[in-house]
Amino acid sequence: MSKINISVLISGRGSNLAAIIEACKQGDLPVRIVRVISNNPDAKGLLLAQKEGIRTDVVNHKDYSNRKLFEEALLKVLAEDNLDLICLAGFMRILSEHFLINVNCKVINIHPSLLPAFKGANAVKDAFDYGVKIMGCTVHYVNSEVDSGEIIDQESIKRLESDNLDSIKQKILEKEHIIFVNAIRNIAKISG
Ligand code: GRF
Repeated sequence: MSKINISVLISGRGSNLAAIIEACKQGDLPVRIVRVISNNPDAKGLLLAQKEGIRTDVVNHKDYSNRKLFEEALLKVLAEDNLDLICLAGFMRILSEHFLINVNCKVINIHPSLLPAFKGANAVKDAFDYGVKIMGCTVHYVNSEVDSGEIIDQESIKRLESDNLDSIKQKILEKEHIIFVNAIRNIAKISG
């Protein structure tokens, strides 16, 4: 199977990025990570990518006076690569319809809740505080509404009496890594 070109967009820690890199190294993912891009120059995931010899770039939203200019800069960097897929892996910026129309490839996101429940940046805490007993994560295509695109896959986790916010976050994260990599593999199979 031929490899597809992906770019991974991050804002922080990069554990989903690490899972993608590991699957590639294991020969378990027909993907070439051509670039990792962060809006946050201090994102730990950038160091992780650099250590693996993956090209990194920072497009810092704080350098632009509005979303459109930030997105134009991001589009310019993305256009340098012949991308098949963009993976938002903890990328904490909302992307507009203008961006999605102009980006020319599929964009997917990993979100730590069972969408459509608990959209937004504090999904795990919101679900935990609400008291839901079944939590989980979702991989979905990105559209211009936050955490609303077509669902690709989901995984659920039963919240135990003994769970606290940190333990449930960790359990969800472990499932994220699995379903995100699986989703990328399935997309690669159809596109590669
Ligand atoms: C994950 O929980 C992901 O679902 C959310 O942001 C977090 C990113 O974690 N969108 P990491 O940077 O991949 O470790």
